[in-house]
Amino acid sequence: MATARHDYDVLIIGSGAAGLTAALTLAQRLHVLVLAKGPLTGGSTAWAQGGIAAVLDAGDTFEDHIRDTMVAGAGLNKRETVEFVIERAPAAIARLVELGVPFNTEGASLHLTREGGHSHRRIVHVADATGQAVQAALLKAAEANPNITLLPGRSCIELITGRNEERYCGSGRVWGAYALDEASGEVGAYTARATILAAGGAGRVYQFSTAPRGATGDGIAMAWRAGARVANMEMMQFHPTCLYHLEVKNFLVTEAVRGEGGRLINPRTGKRFMAFYDRERMELAPRDVVARAIDSEIKRFGLDYVHLDISHLPAAFVREHFPTIHAKLLGLGIDMTAGPIPVVPAQHYTCGGIVIDLAGRTDLPGLYAAGECTESGLHGANRLASNSLLECFVFGEAAARDILARWDRFEAPPAIREWDESRVTDSDEEVVIKQNWTEIRRFMWNYVGIVRTTKRLERAAHRITMLHAEIEDYYGHFRVTTDLIELRNLLQCADLIVQSALRRHESRGLHYTLDYPHTDSVARDTVLVP
Ligand code: FAD
Ligand code: SIN
Repeated sequence: MATARHDYDVLIIGSGAAGLTAALTLAQRLHVLVLAKGPLTGGSTAWAQGGIAAVLDAGDTFEDHIRDTMVAGAGLNKRETVEFVIERAPAAIARLVELGVPFNTEGASLHLTREGGHSHRRIVHVADATGQAVQAALLKAAEANPNITLLPGRSCIELITGRNEERYCGSGRVWGAYALDEASGEVGAYTARATILAAGGAGRVYQFSTAPRGATGDGIAMAWRAGARVANMEMMQFHPTCLYHLEVKNFLVTEAVRGEGGRLINPRTGKRFMAFYDRERMELAPRDVVARAIDSEIKRFGLDYVHLDISHLPAAFVREHFPTIHAKLLGLGIDMTAGPIPVVPAQHYTCGGIVIDLAGRTDLPGLYAAGECTESGLHGANRLASNSLLECFVFGEAAARDILARWDRFEAPPAIREWDESRVTDSDEEVVIKQNWTEIRRFMWNYVGIVRTTKRLERAAHRITMLHAEIEDYYGHFRVTTDLIELRNLLQCADLIVQSALRRHESRGLHYTLDYPHTDSVARDTVLVP
């Protein structure tokens, strides 16, 4: 069957904060198609709890926010990017207010909460479910815009590059993407003059992650295969406080609980332990410090979890500030107003990704990227809490503005090759996908986690090599499904993470290795070139 072709001005892959911000900006003049895997609300954006960082208080300054970001990032951040994003934060919040996001207020001002690594209260929020409100407001605006077409249930498989042109011209120019219609099983070619990848992070490469099911690094893997550089993939952020529960594996307990006074306690000794690791900042030290401290307590005392306790604050305060978490925990038999919450660290955020400049441009002509799938230079070796939604708004808009400004130079896409399914059949061995998916996530957790060694990284690399041959063979013989697309991308991201980690011969921020415990005097990016 001939591959159906759908042509738009701009293709955006991803309907989270980054993708929809870009779409709303572009739709002032252009026709935009937004594709999403699964439902339009399936990305991390809708799951964000704590909020969005912005300098809005008279006692706070851009310089303080910049310094906090670079301290958390262990000096690997690009100062130019940090300034670019932080100075645009107040305007980004103002636009969200205009779109109707019902941020919590205090008198005439927005209420600001606090999170680890921030020297001031500067997190605007909608109680403890900020992401849901932001996603809903962006989606409502996008749905009402006649220049935006939203297509959920489309899993992008590969970018369409010069190689897929009928007459290959040898350029790495990107012309859109091939995507699987999850309902019909058909693959279509979605062509455009410009493409923006806003496909989120790769958190699900780890066994325990706070990220949604679809965070399989598809954008990073597709960009890499198409020829774009990827950087700092070893900088995987582990959130210190994911709920420990035998059935509910990935429920986040927001950092704002610690920001408002929550304490970390060793359940064996009954004592607070953060003073032992960071006497000054205690529970509000940056995430890498707190996650490593919890990991160390768990290992030293043979624990399954530690306790996060905010029950010393008035019950009404806890219920008012954390209604979603309070209700969820109550449903599981845990009353956070009366006792502690069992927590463990879990993968939370992909700091590295596709290399972009301040206009969201990647290495490949016609390809932009924004949000969690990118390495913009903002987060460095460890993201400061609540800086990532902000990055999505700023770079979603920057990419869109660059496309609008250069629109006259974007050519129409050429004739594109058909998606070739002549040599594949339906799989009769789905178990291979399930087995490999589980195996990747398990060895990544055990060998490439919070504390690393070269030996463990080499073990992981060895397993990746073996799985690569098996998965590529499977991909070559069977019709694509979303599970197969994700598995292939998970393995690709696992490889990028391990190769990056093996190249960093120091410990910095989120990359902590027992073989190189020192920090070099000069901070260098780990850049992988395809
Ligand atoms: P996402 O919102 O993840 O969206 C990705 C999109 O890409 C989705 O629409 C998905 O369907 C689509 N997609 C992926 N692959 C494909 C494919 N192959 N084909 C088609 N479409 C595809 N950050 C903060 O700043 N503050 C917070 O309080 C906060 N809390 C968080 C809480 C949790 C539990 C988690 C997991 C993260 C949190 N973060 C927070 C991080 C933040 O939510 C994310 O970094 C951010 O939302 C990423 O937005 P995005 O637009 O880049 O991607
Ligand atoms: C949280 O609410 O703890 C998450 C904030 C973030 O990831 O930025």
